[in-house]
Amino acid sequence: MSLFKNLIAGEWVEGLTTTRNINPSNTDDVVGEFVGASAEQATQAVAAARAAFPAWSRTTAQVRADILLKAAEELFARRAELGELLSREEGKTLPEGTGEVIRASHVMRFFAGEAIRVCGEIYPPVRPNVTVEVTREPVGIVGVITPWNFPIAIPAWKIGAALAFGNCVVFKPADLTPGCGWALTDILVRAGLPAGVLNLVMGRGSVVGDPIVDGVDAITFTGSVPTGRQIAVRAIGTMTKIQLEMGGKNPLIVLDDADLDVAVECAVNGSFYSTGQRCTASSRLVVTENIHDRFVAAVKARLGKVVVGNALSASTQIGPVVDLKQLESNMRYVDIGKRDGAICFGGERLSRETPGFYMAPALLEGTTNAMQINREEVFGPVASVIRVKNYDEALAVANDTMFGLSSGICTTSLKYAKHFQRNSEAGLVMVNVPTAGLDYHVPFGGRKASSYGPREQGSYAVEFFTSVKTSYVNP
Ligand code: UN1
Repeated sequence: MSLFKNLIAGEWVEGLTTTRNINPSNTDDVVGEFVGASAEQATQAVAAARAAFPAWSRTTAQVRADILLKAAEELFARRAELGELLSREEGKTLPEGTGEVIRASHVMRFFAGEAIRVCGEIYPPVRPNVTVEVTREPVGIVGVITPWNFPIAIPAWKIGAALAFGNCVVFKPADLTPGCGWALTDILVRAGLPAGVLNLVMGRGSVVGDPIVDGVDAITFTGSVPTGRQIAVRAIGTMTKIQLEMGGKNPLIVLDDADLDVAVECAVNGSFYSTGQRCTASSRLVVTENIHDRFVAAVKARLGKVVVGNALSASTQIGPVVDLKQLESNMRYVDIGKRDGAICFGGERLSRETPGFYMAPALLEGTTNAMQINREEVFGPVASVIRVKNYDEALAVANDTMFGLSSGICTTSLKYAKHFQRNSEAGLVMVNVPTAGLDYHVPFGGRKASSYGPREQGSYAVEFFTSVKTSYVNP
């Protein structure tokens, strides 16, 4: 079996532990053995990045753009193979896996351009003989800590941005899906990165997390709220810059005047595709009275036909849950919903030809926004329906949450669409499109407990990955 090692100062090295990466569609299938780094190695990786920084931060934008472009090309050329790897280790369907690899390629291409486009400003003097310039410099060493649910796209948009602006990176991919992170690192390094510019430190957050957070100049993290909080508290001690992308409890409002087909498509895609394992998934379907019964019946009819199965087979529409722990947590939430009075359609564990973590999508009817199922993030194929009287109540319910990542509305009324766009307390608003599934060229992020720090992606990424310098010059 292949052994995948960590990369420190340009050397592929063994570590403390090895972990088997298991295919959630077939637990007999081992994707590979991955080396877990020790805390000392994480510290060495930070030191390697620091040693590489002076030279790398002074490379021309062209050098950095060319490397990112080369990586983008390899990602695109290998989309089928890497898409299969992604589906095998994470459980997304093949089209979703391949789509994510293509997205990672687009992201790299975009940041290759950003390396060239980034610029400063010169202001008119307000004092005689003193000119003022604002320039951007890399922040330094960036710790990149990424989740298992987008194992190649999220690393791509964090690492791509970091490298474009001249930073060095210590990258810790999720323990459950290190294969895509390893492949991305290998591709970037072969595209021409000098030793130490990008270091890969796989393993448990409890082992390598603290030495990374303590050693770097900036941390970009996507994952759970509790881990995000821990990172924030630790990072403040060393005044380390942070960018945190965490959970969601995203509402999708369906108004009486919605196009039913559009609403059903948005709900089924947004709530259940990618097995609901997206922080942008619609988990609260907030539906007004007169369309409620038709909408629920149509969603159930769709769910009755949806094919849940092995992520690698062509007919599958929804793959397995990522692992047993997540599956058990999903089931527990379904039970909590039922305990509190919800009626559940689906939601049972399924068996398929291969042993895996299959679960029927769960639709919980008759819920209220106060129920536990509507307060906490589930992160699985579970959505609840909340019946409301009218748009005003729908808006109030949509905003009544500690989270504020994505929000959606299905309506044919421009008036309600525009009002919601303005009054939703979320970082992302979707009108007649699913709450999940985002473009790579625009800022991404939320409000309240969902996000903290500057936005990632698009031209906004420059805020986190660079530091502004204001210079006053009397020539
Ligand atoms: C998407 O919905 O296309 O972890 C992206 C997540 C988000 C990314 C969502 N940070 O689910």
